This record gives sequence, structure tokens and C-alpha cells, in this order.
Amino acid sequence: MKFFIDTANLDQIKEAQDLGVLDGVTTNPSLMAKEGITGADNIINHYKKICDIVTGDVSAEVIATDYEGIIKEGEQLAKLHDQIIVKVPMIKDGVKAIKYFSDKGIKTNCTLVFSAGQALLAAKAGATYVSPFIGRLDDISTDGLNLIAEIRLIYDNYGFNTQILAASVRHTMHVIDCAKIGADVMTGPLSSIEGLLKHPLTDIGLAKFLADYKKGN
Ligand code: E4P
Repeated sequence: MKFFIDTANLDQIKEAQDLGVLDGVTTNPSLMAKEGITGADNIINHYKKICDIVTGDVSAEVIATDYEGIIKEGEQLAKLHDQIIVKVPMIKDGVKAIKYFSDKGIKTNCTLVFSAGQALLAAKAGATYVSPFIGRLDDISTDGLNLIAEIRLIYDNYGFNTQILAASVRHTMHVIDCAKIGADVMTGPLSSIEGLLKHPLTDIGLAKFLADYKKGN
């Protein structure tokens, strides 16, 4: 299972990269705005900075919503760095653009996916990644993890190569459940990754080992 961090915060990206388990980064316009990164040039520069920190895939989202605009913007983003994955929304022109990018060998992440039907369409169009937003489904009392299971079944039935990128992950149990179901990737905040470290018996056990060592020295 690949671990992506879902942020545009460079310090957090560095921290996750330093842990040695990071496979990539996802961003979106809201995450950029949260870091105060606004304006096309600043956003482009920020993507370059992220690519300098990590070795894996970096999702960069298009703002255009019409076919020609998505193609133009996506091609510009893809040229920035070979780690860039063009993030395209699950809309009609987005699906057409994903097919275009796929035929050109440009990698894509189909975002804002909330149903198995949308995930099937993204795979048919040749998306590299499909991003079902599990946390946002949970927020409206719908089972986000069940969507991951449905997509896993459908993709396995037909041998689709599109990778399931569980997005809108909010906590460590989402990560563990996604791993059990067989999501290829999860993207979440730094806390969802670092939370995996924690167990009270580890802390108690380590404290005892260190105390016993001191007794004998
Ligand atoms: C996915 O790529 C999105 O950036 C993200 O996971 C959305 O998460 P949120 O629902 O916590 O905003």
C-alpha cells in the first residue's frame, strides 16, 4: 500500500518524507489556499518545491472545467516535472480529458469520486489513480469504506490497472481499514500516518526496558 500525504504544507511534507515511508503527495485548490498559496505562478512554484522534497507522485489539480481548458492546463502541469500527476475532476469533460491524457501517456488522478459508477468510468477512460473521498461520505452518514470495497471488486473483476487512491482519509482507522480492503494508496494528513506509530503498550514496554537497563548499570 502506498502512503501519500494530503497537504500543501512543506514542513509536513518534509516530516513525512523524513520518516521514510512516503510515496507521494496530493494537493487540491483548498489545501493550497490554506497555506496562503494563491495565483497561478505561486501555485506552479509550490508544485516544484513539493517535487524537490519527495521522490514519488505529486497530484496537481486543474482548475479548468471545460475539455480544451483541462487539456491545456494539464499539459502545462505535466511538463513541470515528471513526478506530476494531473488531477482531473469527475465531470463529463474531465472523463474525456482523462482518456486524452491516457492516450498521450500523461498520468492522471480522477478526483471527487463518490460512487462505484464514477470509479468504473474513470478506469474505462484510463485514469492512473481514482480518488474516492471516504471521509466526506462518512460526513453525510454514508459508508465511505464500502465504496472502496465496491471499487476493489469491480476493478478486480475486470483487471483494471487504475489504482484505488483512498482520499479524504481522516484518521488511522481509515488507513488500516483501507489496507484491509485492498486500497492501492491512501492519502491523508500527517496525523493519520504518525498515528499508526502509537500504542500504549509500546510506551509502557519501552519505559520498563529502559528502567531495567538502568538497574543493571
Ligand atoms: C484528495 O486528493 C483530496 O485532496 C482530499 O483527500 C480531500 O480530503 P478532505 O475531505 O479531508 O478535504
